[in-house]
Parts: sequence; structure tokens; C-alpha cells
Amino acid sequence: MHLYGTQTVTSEGHLAIGGVDTVELAKEYGTPAFIYDIALFRERARGFVETFKKENVKAQVAYASKAFSAVAIYQVAQQEGLSVDVVSGGELFTALKAGFPTEKIHFHGNNKSVEELTYALDAKIGCIVIDNFYEIELLKQLTRERQQKMAVLIRVTPGVEAHTHDFITTGQADSKFGFDLSNGQADEAFKALYKDEYLQLKGMHCHIGSQIFETEAFSLAAKKVVDKMAEWKQQYAFEATVLNLGGGFGIRYTAEDAPLEPAVYVDDMIKAVKKEAEAFGIELPEIWIEPGRSLVGDAGTTLYTVGSHKTVPDVREYIAVDGGMSDNIRPALYEAKYEGAIANNMNAALTTNYTVAGKLCESGDKIIEDIKLPEVQTGDILATFCTGAYGYSMASNYNRVGRPAVVFVENGNHQLAVKRESYEDMAQLDIELKW
Ligand code: LLP
Repeated sequence: MHLYGTQTVTSEGHLAIGGVDTVELAKEYGTPAFIYDIALFRERARGFVETFKKENVKAQVAYASKAFSAVAIYQVAQQEGLSVDVVSGGELFTALKAGFPTEKIHFHGNNKSVEELTYALDAKIGCIVIDNFYEIELLKQLTRERQQKMAVLIRVTPGVEAHTHDFITTGQADSKFGFDLSNGQADEAFKALYKDEYLQLKGMHCHIGSQIFETEAFSLAAKKVVDKMAEWKQQYAFEATVLNLGGGFGIRYTAEDAPLEPAVYVDDMIKAVKKEAEAFGIELPEIWIEPGRSLVGDAGTTLYTVGSHKTVPDVREYIAVDGGMSDNIRPALYEAKYEGAIANNMNAALTTNYTVAGKLCESGDKIIEDIKLPEVQTGDILATFCTGAYGYSMASNYNRVGRPAVVFVENGNHQLAVKRESYEDMAQLDIELKW
């Protein structure tokens, strides 16, 4: 069985994370609960940050907080010297509530509202990543009215689309995000921005996909964007100072995934950008990246309590847990695969094949299909691994099931980071009928 980060098995055969017995955590905080291994988050963050430092390259490592947004995780990100990327007023609010340094907040999104942009300008955040022509006009108007300067990047689609082990290079004009690099739209956006009095264009941003396992796709995207920077320098004497290459670094969900160390991704990116910048004789821009999944994904483990069993003779053995697609939509949405274990019985032989179902009213509400576990009893604690990214952040109240508690563990300490949602919490926005 693959254990992540600080996970160990205690002498009683229990799964421990961050030096804390998960069976005790389940007792204290209830289930379902997301347990975050904060030491692992820090290790990953340092892997990215230190590599840039070692190579003496100016950089910002911005945690893509859509992967998991909560006050306490912004605080850890701040402690590690990270920047953050937010994609909504809600994420911005949470980062500000955490006291995150405003100049290290970057704002993304393909349909930022006037209200959200005004909020970002009020907060004087570090950078807005401009996605479309509508936003250019809106931001021009807002900054002119307020006579306020704001650093901006142009988001481009470089025609490199990567997913897991494959990447394709295409004219990728048909994307809801950004300006296409090859059909002239990126140039048009550039011309609308580079002389603006209030919008201070720093460079470009691209994000080529998620759960990517090789570095070639990033290098190719970097090359295409740097080439465009060189073109703008030659034609308009514009010096880009920032190249943001987005996120997408892959992690290990199951034995089929073979991720690289953060240092490897970063090293290869730096090489590609340096090579291209040198070839065109342009200054090496600052390199910014936006890892989300690779910072929090395998740091998160979900604990569930097993309830009912159902045997479908000659077909399948179901066990059902006290959560499901309301706390992890990824299996239903993407056919995502997970590994798991019985946290209170880690050393027993894996004798039985189960399908782990959730408790939500939908047949597709399965967390893991076909997993070998020891004989499972009602009341056992099932741990599913690698649920730290896009689990809690995509959780819902379907069936009015409350969202789980989130607990941080580190060096034998544990603390609640997000309270479990109560029935009362879920009903608090409801208003009684008035007639
Ligand atoms: N930067 C930008 C502009 C992005 O759009 C994303 C993810 C990231 C950074 C972070 O990517 P990461 O390092 O986490 O791969 N819900 C899906 C993932 C959606 C990702 C959207 N954008 C999932 O559960 O797999």
C-alpha cells in the first residue's frame, strides 16, 4: 500500500498522519472529515520555491486556491512565502480574511464581474490576469474612473493542450479562456493594453491543463509565449517582465500515475525559458507558476465511517460510507480513481473486493469501484487518499448532506480548519413562506 507524506501505521495497526492517529481524529471530529498533512504541503511548496532560488530566477509560486480555499490554508501558504491565485470574489474574500498580503494575490477568471473587479481594485491586489476584450474595456473604465493603477497579465492560449501523459499542439482557438496566440487576438489585446495609463501590462499567462506528467508540454508552451514576447519587443519595444506558466503538475492518485518532483518541472521550465530568451536576446522574465493540485492533493485524506453492506450475489459487494459525491464529486464527474484503506485495520490481509458507495441519492455515487480491503465491518473507518484537491472545494449540499469537517495535522498537533456543516448551517439562508 502506498502511504503519502507523513502517513505511518501505528503499533495498533492504525493509520496515522502528521503523527496523529486517524482513528482518534475520527472520534474527535466525526466523519466524514478531510485530514490535511500540512508538512507535506510545506514540502511541496518548498520544492517549487527552492528550485527557483537555487537557479537564481525571480519567481512567484502562486497557490491556485480553487483546489482548496479556506482561511487556514491561505495562512500556511503565506508562511511558506507563496503568492495565491483566486478566481472569484469569494476566494478573494477568504484570502483577505486570512490576512494574506494583498500584493501577492493574483485574480483570474473568464467572467469577473464589475463587483469582483472593484473588490480587487479596492483591495489593491498584486495582479489581474485579463481574459477577454470585455474585461479590457471594463478594467480600463474602472481604473480610469478611480485613477488607480493595476498590474495586469494577458492570458493567452498557446495552442498546447496537455492532459496527463498526452499533449496536443493545435490551434486551440476554441477555448472559453484567454486570447489565442496564433489568430491575432493576443496581439490585439496587447495593442489595447501596452500604452494604457492605468493598466500596467507586465507580460503573459498561460495554463495548458491539469494532471500533467511530463515537462515537454510546459517547455513548448513557454517557447511559444516567449517567442511572442520577443516579437512584441521587436515591433513595439515592449519589455515583458512576467511569464506565468500556470499550474497542472500531476500527482499520484493510483499506481498508474508517475508524477515528477516539483524541482524537475521547475528546472525544465527554467531551461526552456532561458534558452528561448537568450536566443531572442530578451531579458529573462520573472517566472510565475500556479500549482493547485500538486500542493494540496496528496496532502488530503478523507475519513469515512462504513455503514451498510449490500451483496449482489455473484456480482458485487457494496459497502456504503457516510459521505460520497457531496464531498468528492470527482469519481462521478471524471471517473477519477482513488486508493483507500481501512484506517483502523491497516495490517490485515486484503482479502475481499468491494465497491465503496456513497450515501447520496444517485446510482453513480461511488467513491471507489473494486478495491481490495480486509473483511470490512460496520463502524470501520475508511480512508481515501489523495482527496485534498478539488474535493472540499467542489463539495455540495446535495440531499442536504452537510460538508465535512476539515482538520489540519502537523508534528503531532491537530486542529479544526473548517467546521462540519450542521443542519442549521444549511438551513440558515432559507426564508419562510410569507403567504
Ligand atoms: N491556473 C489556472 C489558470 C487554472 O485554470 C488552474 C486549474 C490552475 C492554475 C491549477 O491547476 P492544478 O495545478 O490544480 O492542476 N476540477 C478539476 C480541475 C480543474 C482545474 C482548473 N484549473 C479536477 O478536479 O481535476
